[in-house]
Amino acid sequence: MKIAVIGAGYVGLTTAVCLAQQDNAVRVYDIDSSRLEKLATGKLPIFEPGLEKATRSALMRGALKFSSSVEECVRSADIVFLTVGTPPLADGQIDLSFIRSAARQIALPLKPATVVVIKSTVTAGTCRKIADLIARKRKAADITVASNPEFLREGSAMADFLNPDRIVVGADDPRTAAILAKLYRPITLRGVRLLSTSTRNAELIKYAANAFLALKIGFINDVAELCEHMDGDIAEVAEGIGLDKRIGHSFLAPGPGFGGSCFPKDTRAFAMTGRQNGAPQRLIETLIAQNDERKARLASRILNAGSLSGGGKVAVLGLAFKANTDDVRESPALAIIPHLQKAGVRVRAHDPKAIANARDLLSDVDWLDCPYEAARGAQAVVILTEWDDYRCLQLRRLARLMSGSTLFDFRNLFDPAEVAEHGLRYVGIGRPAAASRRRLKSRAGGHMVAPLDKSAAAIWQS
Ligand code: UGA
Repeated sequence: MKIAVIGAGYVGLTTAVCLAQQDNAVRVYDIDSSRLEKLATGKLPIFEPGLEKATRSALMRGALKFSSSVEECVRSADIVFLTVGTPPLADGQIDLSFIRSAARQIALPLKPATVVVIKSTVTAGTCRKIADLIARKRKAADITVASNPEFLREGSAMADFLNPDRIVVGADDPRTAAILAKLYRPITLRGVRLLSTSTRNAELIKYAANAFLALKIGFINDVAELCEHMDGDIAEVAEGIGLDKRIGHSFLAPGPGFGGSCFPKDTRAFAMTGRQNGAPQRLIETLIAQNDERKARLASRILNAGSLSGGGKVAVLGLAFKANTDDVRESPALAIIPHLQKAGVRVRAHDPKAIANARDLLSDVDWLDCPYEAARGAQAVVILTEWDDYRCLQLRRLARLMSGSTLFDFRNLFDPAEVAEHGLRYVGIGRPAAASRRRLKSRAGGHMVAPLDKSAAAIWQS
């Protein structure tokens, strides 16, 4: 099929490249012409594993083209995907102006009966409003607008697109639904379920799915805090509850709170939709507050447990909101670093990919291109992103370079006992300190939950 994609961000590029791999002819337009020029030479403006290589290969085969003319891009398309940004507004709603402006731009050049698909995350009812807007502009109602929400995660975007748990297609007429079912046949033929529903349900599914996943994270973070106060071990508790198939293990990793371009924005928009429609989403309202507070609380813990209230140096490892991306939007680092700075702490920061993006949003930070250099002279090292590079850190070398000895492992990457063996004091999330675990290992072969370690409990209660 002939496909046009409007908006060359994570979702747009992944959609374009994956559809080009499936024998479609894909053209991509973006309002940013310098972005398009780079893309045409196979250079991606974002870091996403595998995407650059796949883009180059699709360009070479001629299956993918970038075009700076929106008319040229859409005029012969059978399907046009809108994958432009829907950034958050200050009051929690989302800004739909890019969607509206893209719809206005494509309305006239579209050939009759083209299917327009909104893949951007939009509030319920948007597809119908966009269909009206296009119909008014064309003075004809031949264009249908479908919802096809995306469930891909940054860092594994292509794999998620090509091997999804499900495909959701929201269409308000059978022809549109059939065209999209045909487009996704290469994936559904492999046994992936395509749920065909209305545009409104599809829009609601996207928000409800993200809100539910974010709730799982908020829940496990609360349980981790309880473990800290009761000397439990969150790893074992999460394992135990996740073995129930109704709960499952995914999204039960505790951490510094969720971030990124989706969960924070989508939970706020979902809560706002609930309020506006007389159905307050109380769990989500609480979750939003808990997730915001979590970062401030972790910053206080660093200051208290690291004896840093009077200032000092701290190495922050990890600026991206999660591993395998250079995206820093709403990342825990952006909230925690300013808290430390306010207390007079000098921050030395490292990230394998995200320094360039973080630089624009943080000031007075020493940027280091090596985690060991960041740790040099630091009283404490704080791990905020679960990069593999950090899992492989040589603890002895880290300990030698630091002036203090506390390792705040807010992604639970390390074995506390191993950290202690290298002379570092371990502070993880929801788990006992190294000393107690080692005591336990020698007594019980490491199979039981560790007994209360007063110093660890004191740190977490501070
Ligand atoms: C999320 C969803 O997972 C995708 O399904 C969805 O398509 C996407 O939003 C979107 O709406 O576009 P993404 O934001 O890329 O994807 O990242 P996730 O892997 O979901 O992580 C989100 C945040 O939760 C990160 O800060 C991550 O560190 C945190 N997280 C995730 C945890 O703290 N614990 C977990 O167990 C999982």
